[in-house]
Amino acid sequence: ALAACTSDSGTTPAALVDPSGPAVAAVEKQRKGTGRTHQVTLTAAPAVLDLGAGITAKSWAFSGRAPGREIRLAAGDTLAAELSNQLPDRTATSLHWHGIALRNDMDGVPPVTQRTVRAGANFTYRFIADAPGTYFVHPHVGVQLDRGLYAPLIVEDPREPLSYDDEWVVVLDDWVDGVTGTPDEVLAELRQGMGGMDMGGDSGSGGHDMSGMDMGEASASPSGGMSMRFMLMGAESALLGGDAGDVKYPYHLVNGRVPADPDVYRGRPGRRVRLRLINAGGDTAYRVALGGHRMTVTHTDGFPVEHQQVDTVLVGMGERYDVLVALGDGVFPLVALAEGKDATGMALVRTGSGTAPKATVRPKELDGRMLTASELRAADDVRLASRTVDQVHRVELSGGMATYDWTVNGRAFDMDDPAAHPLTVEEGQRVRLDFVNSTQMWHPMHLHGHTYQLAGGGPRKDTAVVLPKKKLSVVFDADNPGRWMLHCHNAYHAEVGMMALVAYR
Ligand code: C2O
Ligand code: CU
Repeated sequence: ALAACTSDSGTTPAALVDPSGPAVAAVEKQRKGTGRTHQVTLTAAPAVLDLGAGITAKSWAFSGRAPGREIRLAAGDTLAAELSNQLPDRTATSLHWHGIALRNDMDGVPPVTQRTVRAGANFTYRFIADAPGTYFVHPHVGVQLDRGLYAPLIVEDPREPLSYDDEWVVVLDDWVDGVTGTPDEVLAELRQGMGGMDMGGDSGSGGHDMSGMDMGEASASPSGGMSMRFMLMGAESALLGGDAGDVKYPYHLVNGRVPADPDVYRGRPGRRVRLRLINAGGDTAYRVALGGHRMTVTHTDGFPVEHQQVDTVLVGMGERYDVLVALGDGVFPLVALAEGKDATGMALVRTGSGTAPKATVRPKELDGRMLTASELRAADDVRLASRTVDQVHRVELSGGMATYDWTVNGRAFDMDDPAAHPLTVEEGQRVRLDFVNSTQMWHPMHLHGHTYQLAGGGPRKDTAVVLPKKKLSVVFDADNPGRWMLHCHNAYHAEVGMMALVAYR
């Protein structure tokens, strides 16, 4: 029977599965492990980042680099990742393994699945990563992701069915809020909004204290909302470390580099390369193309799809795409066009001689056949078997820039009482989520701990953009008990309240 689709406000937290309880341990036991452990340390600390072209940014990063060092293991390996929190001013943090269906108590969402990891403290995450794919890791506190705290996470398939010669990871990120449009507008707003904020003293940041601020209050009134917005901008403006007058907002970074001084991939003509595209940006969908090449899309969000040949692929915030290219001979721009923003990020692919294209180059492939998630089909071996849906939840997305009040089902999520209004499911159910976007903005909706499938045999994904004024339905099998976040991956939307809890009863 179809269960009620309203949120169950009568459910007490005690009736919900405990993130570190027996149901979670039982599922972890069933995960096929190799018995091998892959050990890494991620140190979150202030860093002066070299963005290229003489631009440095004071921010936070893992071990001094953004993106942080890639983590790579084989499916079934246990990841033992020690987080060392060296962030300043009592800033708490955590690590979230974006896209991985892992045991709930290692999901890194304070206060839902663990306590925050305090400044000066360490915490070791330990879990089996059993599904191969392209993922990334970032904190799940405030908008720390937007500061540069992220790293690619690749789970290799020991029986990789794809054949290719090389593999390159491509991490996209937007730095500094570009929401309102032109760089000058943003800069003007920043100046206006920065009153009273520390713009780059020795503490290394203004706005670093946001992780502890009262989000409820920020979203309660329009003015609170506005100050929240400036706080977020402040976080990124702190990257400047000094004279705001020189800054050209926003930066679109590929592997942490500006287009004027791009990262270079070296390859050989004729080789087949797998590109793993990861969008770590907080507010930008990127249209990605490699000049002079077509791409074959093979995976999204770690899961295989029926292959399709395209010129360009649209990668939403938090989404990942894997594509194959057969390299030509020369120097080619790998361009990420910020959708709707008239700005680009770039890396170079060099396989032969030739001069590098200009930083502003727009390869014609950007206007060619573009693929979006809804046109993809799940590969046979990962397509969910059809069955009746047991549980439906309507997930209404509302809010706007003027009021700065993004919500799910009319409610700003309360981190102080996260289990107050869960969308409940039961282990074994087939669940459908009906997203309804009544706003004018894109909302990349990310579900933790599961890989849903776009309705009608679409791709398996954990993050999918719900376009303005559109609906999107996804289904998943409730096979990973716990308390899981469902939220918009625009970090600043999520932070003011566009989050919900999917909780097992
Ligand atoms: Cu990548 Cu809940 O986030
Ligand atoms: Cu959003």
